[in-house]
Amino acid sequence: MKRIAILTSGGDAPGMNAAIRAVTRKAIHEGMEVYGINYGFAGLVAGDIRKLDVPDVGDIIQRGGTVLYSARYPEFSTEEGQLKGIEQLNKFGIEGLVVIGGDGSYHGALALTKRGFPAVGIPGTIDNDIPMTDYTIGFDTAINTVLDAMDKIRDTATSHVRTFIIEVMGRDAGDIALWAGVAGGADDIIIPEHDFDMAQVAKKIREGRDRGKKHCLIVLAEGVMSGHKFADQLAEYGDFHARVSVLGHVVRGGSPSARDRVLASKFGSFAVDLLKDGQGGLCIGSLNNEVVANDIVATLEEKKHQPDLSLYDLNHQISF
Ligand code: F6P
Repeated sequence: MKRIAILTSGGDAPGMNAAIRAVTRKAIHEGMEVYGINYGFAGLVAGDIRKLDVPDVGDIIQRGGTVLYSARYPEFSTEEGQLKGIEQLNKFGIEGLVVIGGDGSYHGALALTKRGFPAVGIPGTIDNDIPMTDYTIGFDTAINTVLDAMDKIRDTATSHVRTFIIEVMGRDAGDIALWAGVAGGADDIIIPEHDFDMAQVAKKIREGRDRGKKHCLIVLAEGVMSGHKFADQLAEYGDFHARVSVLGHVVRGGSPSARDRVLASKFGSFAVDLLKDGQGGLCIGSLNNEVVANDIVATLEEKKHQPDLSLYDLNHQISF
């Protein structure tokens, strides 16, 4: 392959720029041409496509967000959208596509693959909810952002002897809550992948209070319920001076961590290796610290992401 394109799609994630840089620089290093597609699949259909050269990806490795912009574009699930997208790729002489994004974006790559256009997916989402990879680009930065917020919230929680419900993103996945919760010493972590008993949550807070514990931090994944709803339900078991802090999109921004930049650089470089060899229909992942490529159809249709639930048990054993 001589000419490839790259797009970022769905919710942005810190480290996407590092991946864009890696794809572009590696492709140029290999004597290939790279085109950037703005605004994900929406830009693909609209033909918002431009050539990327070495300086276009300079000074971006440290920046959050994505210089190619992003969009949610459900219209790409239609035949019309997909055919139009392929028409645009053909018009620009593009032979392969790198898609950086989460679950929705992977389905776009899958659709192109099924229509015979070589696409390679790179997992880029703070949610860490992509099958066949231990980590997605952006996850590490996101959990460190939550951790920073938790450390700050604990200061004020202690001063006022309050319970805080810290609601974090993750869509249907509990990974962000789980990892940040363990790292931040959360009293409880509430995730969609594990049931919980509000009476036990209340009991634990009460026991902590009785021991003289001043703060209580509960990290709640948004996929379970909203922080305010959780606080209302908790209030039925007693007055714990609860406050709710919804971290929201703050967790999606910021300069990527070293770990995310390295992961993005490895993934981006490997995507180019695959396309250079004419291989498409694959999604990249990191399994046991090894960068791997898996069939995108089988990955999306047969595999499901599972968080590391041993962390949940661990937290119960060491956080009270
Ligand atoms: O997928 C990333 C994510 O940030 C989820 O954690 C969250 O549920 C969703 O995107 C929010 O999407 P939007 O920015 O479109 O509201």
